[in-house]
Amino acid sequence: MHHGHGDDEQDPKEKIDYRATFRLILSLMKPRKAAFALAFAYMAASTLISLANPIVAKYIIDTAIPAKDSRMLLLATAVFFGNTVLFLIFNYLLVLQLVRTGQDIMVSLKERMLSHMLGLDLDYYSANPVGRLTARVQSDTSTLYALFTNTAVTIFNDALMFLAVFGIMAFYNLKLTLVLLPVFPAILALTWVYVRVTSPLSITVRKLTAEVSAFLTEQLNGIGVIQAFSREANTSARMETLNERKFSAEMRNEIYVVVFFLTVLFLHPAATAAVFGLGGTMVIKGTLTVGVLVMFILYLGQLFEPIFRFSEHISIIQRSFSAGHRISRILALRPALVEPKKPHFLTSVKDGIEFRNVWMRYGKESEWVLKDVSFSLPRGRSMAIVGETGGGKTTVTSLLFRFYDFEKGHVEIDGTDVRRLSLKSLRSAIGLVQQDIYLFPGTVMDNLKMMDSSIPDARVHEAIRLMGLEAFFKKHPLTKKVVEKGANLSIGEKQVVSLARAMVLDQEVLVLDEATSHMDPYTERLITGAIKHLLKHKTLIIIAHRLSTVRNVDRILMVSGGEVKESGTHGELLAAGGLYSKYYKLQFGDT
Ligand SMILES: Nc1ncnc2c1ncn2[C@@H]1O[C@H](COP(=O)(O)OP(=O)(O)O)[C@@H](O)[C@H]1O
Ligand SMILES: [Mg+2]
Repeated sequence: MHHGHGDDEQDPKEKIDYRATFRLILSLMKPRKAAFALAFAYMAASTLISLANPIVAKYIIDTAIPAKDSRMLLLATAVFFGNTVLFLIFNYLLVLQLVRTGQDIMVSLKERMLSHMLGLDLDYYSANPVGRLTARVQSDTSTLYALFTNTAVTIFNDALMFLAVFGIMAFYNLKLTLVLLPVFPAILALTWVYVRVTSPLSITVRKLTAEVSAFLTEQLNGIGVIQAFSREANTSARMETLNERKFSAEMRNEIYVVVFFLTVLFLHPAATAAVFGLGGTMVIKGTLTVGVLVMFILYLGQLFEPIFRFSEHISIIQRSFSAGHRISRILALRPALVEPKKPHFLTSVKDGIEFRNVWMRYGKESEWVLKDVSFSLPRGRSMAIVGETGGGKTTVTSLLFRFYDFEKGHVEIDGTDVRRLSLKSLRSAIGLVQQDIYLFPGTVMDNLKMMDSSIPDARVHEAIRLMGLEAFFKKHPLTKKVVEKGANLSIGEKQVVSLARAMVLDQEVLVLDEATSHMDPYTERLITGAIKHLLKHKTLIIIAHRLSTVRNVDRILMVSGGEVKESGTHGELLAAGGLYSKYYKLQFGDT
């Protein structure tokens, strides 16, 4: 069921939805207006202070020194020095404020993304590998961090500083100021070319960066397989190719960066030379004081500062928009499987589960996976689904959990369509023990409680006792640390833990999907005892290949090619001499 939300592939020419992205950025800034206003105030203060120093310098040269007034000189120097200290203090406050606000935004954005992503359909995750998603969320949020801590405030300030410096210079000497004018269109044109050339390049670089980190995650996840098949060299070689592509893209990008900055860097001394040349001539003619000339030279530095930052701003803004675009696209994804408008809350299963003429396929164009499946499972009864691999057994139970929706027919609990039930109440009523078991890092106890610390220990002990698993949990104490993915337990052991977990969570309906497939005969016997207990107390669906496990259930469905071929008790099906009896004979011989 690919819905084409593989939105990883942002091609450099893809259109960014500026409005949606702008709305996202604004929505992040809006609740923090006061924080940004304060940052802006600090920044304006430090800028104003820095603007005053060249004027003080001019005063020292043109007034204090010619008057030979040492007190005045000392005072002016003290002002110059004090100004610098104040400038540093305001800058410190500013950085602190921006970092605080930026971090605050990042935390809330990541929370928003995580809680949104937790609700997305399983479909989305089959189309988007987790490694890549993690890398993307990390890099996109940190790009926005740069926007909020640097550009959002600085850009206004830089514009202000630029205009103020220009204004002050024009006020003191218009003619000398006008000499500088041609420099700015030149810089604008240069910046424009630079941004046009480098922005597709930098998109490529970022994409490759995400790819490298996704590749690493995926390969390290499969490290067991890689080592088992000794594919280490092959994996390294693929990593190297990827890194080489990233290297050459980075290099091309960096060369442009260096050329651009050197050009802009060259413009500063060029402008300084022009001011010295013309200003010096004016001083010789007596139309300009030395103080004003020095002041101009000092201001030139301040004029070029915002110019240097201009291209940086543009590139951060561009990157922020493409990062924001991807983030807002994720946030705009609506899961197909959502809570119904007027949900019916399932508090307990009273009558049972019913499938009537259910048809299902993964995607509109695909083959039918379930064809006209019908059965009913009254409360407190048990049912087994058996049949060949790929026959559709897991799909039947996925519909019950509403991991996917079916196309035709009816799936009902107590006579209510599952699509009308509150998803949350549905999924908390039905428990699942799967073939591939995911355990979370923590202790065995934590995992038995599904990380829910509100569940009392006593309930865990009680569940273990009821299922007769004391011996197992003596060998694997509840305090044992489970590492990521439960890698320090065997699959069979994980299946025991996950069966006990289902018992602790105490759901009314339990689905065991090949839950005992990896156990040794000894553990399986242990588990069979536990399952007997479950049979008595729960509504149970068991999917299993080992027919010894399913003998005791009330009814067996033989599913093949998406169809229910046979249905009945073990005895009935055996007597009928159909597919089930063939399976049985395959496993146990003709006796
Ligand atoms: N998420 C999915 N997307 C597309 N096809 C799927 C998906 N899950 C299962 N299938 C296909 O549906 C068929 C039935 O799968 P499944 O119900 O898992 O079989 P079983 O549990 O009996 O082994 C298989 O052909 C499988 O390839
Ligand atoms: Mg299956």
